[in-house]
Amino acid sequence: MSLIKFKPLHDEFGARVTGVDLSAALADEDVAAIRDAMDEYSVLCFSDQQMTDDAHLAFTKNLGEPEPNHVIFGATGEVNYFGTIGNVIDAENKKGNSDPHTRYQSGNNLWHSDSSFRLVPAKFTINHAYEVPDEGGVTEFASQRLAYAQLPETMQSTIDALHVLHDYVFSRSRVAPVDPNHAASLPPIEHKLVRTNPSNGRKNFYIGSHARSIIGLSGIESRQLIDDLLECATKPEDVYAHQWQVGDTVIWDNRCLMHRGLGYDADRWRRLMRQTRVSGDSPTLSE
Ligand SMILES: [Fe+2]
Repeated sequence: MSLIKFKPLHDEFGARVTGVDLSAALADEDVAAIRDAMDEYSVLCFSDQQMTDDAHLAFTKNLGEPEPNHVIFGATGEVNYFGTIGNVIDAENKKGNSDPHTRYQSGNNLWHSDSSFRLVPAKFTINHAYEVPDEGGVTEFASQRLAYAQLPETMQSTIDALHVLHDYVFSRSRVAPVDPNHAASLPPIEHKLVRTNPSNGRKNFYIGSHARSIIGLSGIESRQLIDDLLECATKPEDVYAHQWQVGDTVIWDNRCLMHRGLGYDADRWRRLMRQTRVSGDSPTLSE
């Protein structure tokens, strides 16, 4: 009998999950419960998990097709399903605040949706925390589904018909240089501005730091609309802030959430998280 339980973390989205060991082979009913809960809650937090890379990848495959890491693939052509977040080099050494890698990762401190610059963007991200800073390092989540539901109906129907360009080089080159091969592998991608969850029909807009412009609007109108939607989605009372603990596994739904890191002092603290992503099902224009 399944012992899995979901307890809401926030009035509108997010749940803490108990009664499941993600490092073990999961029963079909638990996998189904987690998939259903992702459609409902958008972000799930599991504590005290005894994770390994092998278990992490096996769990990822339960939820869909793993997405190759675009940074490694774009630069070298190698397929690797993991990303490493943080500043750890080995048991004794870490990278500080001035290290280029730390600066590159600071791009994650802007509100974004993972892989939104891909033709088929990531559906889910799965992060596991192995080492966490004593201070800082919080990840915040904001729901573009909740924000869409709060918009006046006239605004909803206006944006329903629009398309948005997401562009990795636009967003990241403002933070740190992008490898030329990597940049060439990621041209700007046109998405629907409003996406619909295929399981429950709930709608959300789809922006974040990679959203460069709205197709057909002038530069200033386009920027204003993206900024207004961002402000609507990230009102402090509508944000869930996750303070990481060692052993936390967190899954989030990139189709409808944005997230951002709040940063930490890399000169002072160590941080090590491993990350996989689950590919989306199709380009958003054919959803
Ligand atoms: Fe991210």
